[in-house]
Amino acid sequence: MKMITRPDALQQTCLECKKNKRIGLVPTMGYFHEGHLSLMDWTRKHCDVLVVSLFVNPSQFGPGEDLAAYPRDKERDIRLAREHGADILFIPQAGSMYAANHATWVEVPELAKGLCGRTRPVHFRGVATVVTKLFNLVQPEVAVFGEKDRQQLAIIKRMVRDLNMPVRVEGRPIVRESDGLALSSRNAYLTPEERAQAPALYAGLCAASGWIANGMRGISELLAGITAYYAEHLPAGRLDYFEVVDPESMQPVHMVEDAVILAVAMRMGRARLIDNILVESSVGSAGERKGEKG
Ligand code: PAF
Repeated sequence: MKMITRPDALQQTCLECKKNKRIGLVPTMGYFHEGHLSLMDWTRKHCDVLVVSLFVNPSQFGPGEDLAAYPRDKERDIRLAREHGADILFIPQAGSMYAANHATWVEVPELAKGLCGRTRPVHFRGVATVVTKLFNLVQPEVAVFGEKDRQQLAIIKRMVRDLNMPVRVEGRPIVRESDGLALSSRNAYLTPEERAQAPALYAGLCAASGWIANGMRGISELLAGITAYYAEHLPAGRLDYFEVVDPESMQPVHMVEDAVILAVAMRMGRARLIDNILVESSVGSAGERKGEKG
């Protein structure tokens, strides 16, 4: 595995590789867990060259957010990237990624204003900008992201389409602990008491999916149901949002009529956890179930 710290060196190396090999890129902020490793494994299998970037991107953290505290373990990450077949591990310094007078930003405001964007107004601008920079440096055929950050994935897909970027964006399923908690580097912030309650975040989404399968269509009913669920099962949490959105536009729907994403963000002590599930078109199946009952 080649370790590269300088952006120009990464670009030079990848331009060479690209001539006769398919490059796959896994952008990360490090502190690897099984979710990151599953992205690397998938890319290893589908591409000739696996490039992993490890960069805690300052521009996606707002004032007062956890940039300084974000968990880091560089030596372990290097070992894991090597074990999972990375050919190139890119670990730049912040100063080499952003010039002192950096002045160019990539934004997808329509998709970034809701959900996490409401409380993290500069976050997705930072993500879209650094991902664009990584795409320009690596010029991958495929770039792979986890579905846990569903809004991020939708924004990156839209950016790639709108700006004709020559890269295929692949979203991969959320990896969960055996109790259902979605893996996240920020789970490290949870106290034992919070960790014990945290699986209820996903359990609540599954419960809501079940209510939809049983015919619940109204957003206010779903919100009331899930608020009560979390009050009972996740009292250590403070609900940031629960929203029912269209999978592509990430805009809230007024009623469940087709496939939707149920998305949630919850503050738990120092952590802010997010999770989501896709509920496939359920109108037909609920109708069929009703039909069966006669
Ligand atoms: O999902 C992440 O870890 C980050 O937002 C990303 C895509 C690596 C950009 O910094």
